[in-house]
Amino acid sequence: MSQTAKLELEGKTFEFPVIVGTEGEKGVDVRDLRARTGYITYDEAYGNTGSCQSRITFIDGEQGILRYRGYPIEELAEGSTFVQIAYLLIFGKLPTEPERQRFSDLLTDYQMIHEDMKFHFEGFPSGSHPMAMLSAMINAAGCFIPEVMNRYEPAIFERQAARLISQVRTLAAYAYRKSRGLPAIYPKRKYRYTQNFLHMMFSEPDEDYHLDPAVVDALDLIFLLHADHEQNCSTSTVRMVASSRANLFASAAAGVCALWGPLHGGANQAVIEMLEEIQIQGDDGSRFLERVKQRDGHAKLMGFGHRVYKNFDPRARIIKKACDVMLDKMGIHDPLLDIAKKLEETALNDPYFVERKLYPNVDFYSGIILKAIGIPSEMFTVIFAIGRMPGWIANYKEVIESSDSRIYRPRQIYQGEIQRPYVPIEER
Ligand code: ACO
Repeated sequence: MSQTAKLELEGKTFEFPVIVGTEGEKGVDVRDLRARTGYITYDEAYGNTGSCQSRITFIDGEQGILRYRGYPIEELAEGSTFVQIAYLLIFGKLPTEPERQRFSDLLTDYQMIHEDMKFHFEGFPSGSHPMAMLSAMINAAGCFIPEVMNRYEPAIFERQAARLISQVRTLAAYAYRKSRGLPAIYPKRKYRYTQNFLHMMFSEPDEDYHLDPAVVDALDLIFLLHADHEQNCSTSTVRMVASSRANLFASAAAGVCALWGPLHGGANQAVIEMLEEIQIQGDDGSRFLERVKQRDGHAKLMGFGHRVYKNFDPRARIIKKACDVMLDKMGIHDPLLDIAKKLEETALNDPYFVERKLYPNVDFYSGIILKAIGIPSEMFTVIFAIGRMPGWIANYKEVIESSDSRIYRPRQIYQGEIQRPYVPIEER
């Protein structure tokens, strides 16, 4: 028998249906609450609001579970690649070999941006933040594809998705090179997705970058682990923009802007800055943790804690292992990694962190990998954006294809002045 929820308001009882997800999550369906009662729900920051029913990603923050389309992140990280995961997220199934090959060929075919885009890059002053350039250039890239501006067409969506996933990588590398005053490097057909990104970042016109397989694998894993994370701030932004039937490129550009904020995509940069500060102070991490617990200067253990995970972030376990493997293969000994490990071990045994259920999140170790690869810290959030693109595209598609999708339009509780007469300027 289907469950209902009862609500008493002004002496009347109203019943609302309960929706149960495939993993047992329950929600009260209040879509007709206002029409029936005149009331709305109030849930600032949406901590208790299900904004959609989605089939893409499942998270159980209490158990530390993350699954893309039903597949555990641990198994995907072990056996798959970023490009296959992109396909899985967007089209709902793991690609067969011919499907993977076709998608991969599309990525290669679309890797070059329109030559006129270079003039757009020239308009940015040197030193511009790569996230600002990335967002603007994704929108600009849409202008070069008339079909993107038209109505959503399922038949051409695979092409559009491939174009965006491929070109965000080219645009990101160009944005980095522009921010440093370096010449743009063209992609090469012979390279796979992540190899090509590293090539465009670090090759020079007179010398090709040496592609170390350990580095390629580690960066591909970082992209894969960031590929989706259900209704976070940037994904919700993409869905919001998509609900107005804006085009795919405009919706993704809005996602980049939301991700840019330090409360969302910028934490791995903050982890590196924290570890460097601890190192400069000649601390092994113990003094810093005492400061955190004393709330001295509002210090926080960056890379710890999560709004949803109240257990280990499963991505953090995978990244920690990958970090060890990559640094070992590259023969790098990074003292920041020693400090990070000491901080983690101490915090996981300290009542302050244990009682508050604070565990390492995905950002705790990813910054160390990116730093070892040679990616500058202002590009860390850009790497996140490249990784998150398939998730944004999958969510865009879900909104556009949903038969009962309406424009997203929350309500508010107005707390401003009540009606008052206009006062002419000479009487104020
Ligand atoms: N270090 C020290 N104390 C912390 C930390 C931390 N990293 N995180 C939370 N706490 C404390 C809070 O001060 C609070 O203590 P109190 O109950 O005594 O007041 C308690 O733990 C609960 O914290 P909230 O702020 O309520 O947790 P919330 O879910 O709102 O915040 C957040 C989550 C923003 C991630 C927080 O843990 C944080 O700031 N962490 C550091 C930044 C970080 O790593 N962000 C990356 C998140 S992952 C991602 O975006 C990809």
